[in-house]
Amino acid sequence: MEIINFDSVDSTNKYIKENHDSLEDLTFVNALFQSNGKGREDRVWNSDKNLNLLFSFLIKDKNIIKKYKSLSIGTATLIARFLEIKGIKNVMVKWPNDVYVNNKKICGILLEGEMPKYLVVGVGLNVNQTEFKGDFRVPPTSMKNELKNDFDLNKLKDELFSFLTKHIKQINFEGKTLRFYSKHDYLLGKNVEINKVKGFVKGITKDFEIIVGNNKFSSGEITIL
Ligand code: BTN
Repeated sequence: MEIINFDSVDSTNKYIKENHDSLEDLTFVNALFQSNGKGREDRVWNSDKNLNLLFSFLIKDKNIIKKYKSLSIGTATLIARFLEIKGIKNVMVKWPNDVYVNNKKICGILLEGEMPKYLVVGVGLNVNQTEFKGDFRVPPTSMKNELKNDFDLNKLKDELFSFLTKHIKQINFEGKTLRFYSKHDYLLGKNVEINKVKGFVKGITKDFEIIVGNNKFSSGEITIL
């Protein structure tokens, strides 16, 4: 595992996309601040300086790229497992790429890349920030808000990068990760709309496709009705 650290960069996802040729598989790029952090659906990802984990990692391994459909949700589930290990209660995974705690968003994931060449998994995890200004579709929270203590960002970063590397190398999204997801499924039983289809969420398949009514989806923007 290679780690590149920035005090400030426009976007760690963008950095990897621009340099993917010269970077090796499983390079992690971390920043204490992003001047142009990107969220899903062309939204921005704002984060106060020095308070949160803002990182991306590069996937070049063809075996993992083949599993791109489960990479986002697999990573979200691994982060949820990690947060539970850290003592956070009521951690839920919201398909396909968010981690919630008590109905608030603690982590978002943005998957980009060029198939089948490479993928970039970008992660914004709220750690020590306690106040969030702006308009949010879902209210944010952080590890500090939930546990009432500060975290050493460097130590947490090392632990999380090792945890992710270990599980992603094993492509361990099935088995334990899938079982964890099923027990922490934020959308289960909810009435949703996805890709113009409405229905109740019945769970996910072993390939991490969401089951809505009698339909299965491997991607899409989901709205709770
Ligand atoms: C979302 O909209 O929920 C996804 C947010 C992803 C934010 C992270 S922060 C690190 C990486 N670099 C970016 O510009 N975005 C991702």
